[in-house]
Amino acid sequence: MFFEPGFLGTAAPLYLDLATCYFFILPFLILYSISYAIKKQYKKHFISQFIIIAITLVVVVIFELGLRLDGGFGKYSQDSSYDYVFLLIYLLAHIVLAVLTLSYWTYFVFTSYKAYKAGDLEKKHKQKGRYVFLLILLTSLTGLSFYVLLFI
Ligand code: HEM
Repeated sequence: MFFEPGFLGTAAPLYLDLATCYFFILPFLILYSISYAIKKQYKKHFISQFIIIAITLVVVVIFELGLRLDGGFGKYSQDSSYDYVFLLIYLLAHIVLAVLTLSYWTYFVFTSYKAYKAGDLEKKHKQKGRYVFLLILLTSLTGLSFYVLLFI
């Protein structure tokens, strides 16, 4: 069932459609979490960050397992009308960005929480938080466009 064509009407399997939809809504979830900080509801702000990052890690694990079990890029790129080398370079750039973003975001969530609890949240948190949001947005957009390149 997970590897049957999904609900988006493309040739992509169900697990990829689910992951793609999640990465479409992820930047909006982050914006929602930031809106709590703007309203000075800091507890909701950091709890929502922990929830979003936990869900994201689960989705990434499902996504990675699905890729490994279903044949991954090698299989999907065969049906794409785009050049293999172009797709490969695009994929590598996306992977580097995704790994950096996920690592830094996780680091930022934990260090911010620790500093906040110690009453020592740095002044630059606001600015760094905006950069983290931009990194997440860019990662989502490159992931979504990769889906388009492969399956549409
Ligand atoms: C989970 C640990 C976190 C804690 C304890 C925390 C706490 C806070 C606090 C206390 C503020 C207000 C600071 C100020 O006004 O100078 C704030 C603002 C902000 N936080 Fe966080 N934060 C956390 C994680 C994050 C993450 C992961 C992001 C980005 C993805 C983020 C993005 C922001 C942004 C953009 C603002 C500024 C909102 C505004 O414009 O007023 N925060 N956070």
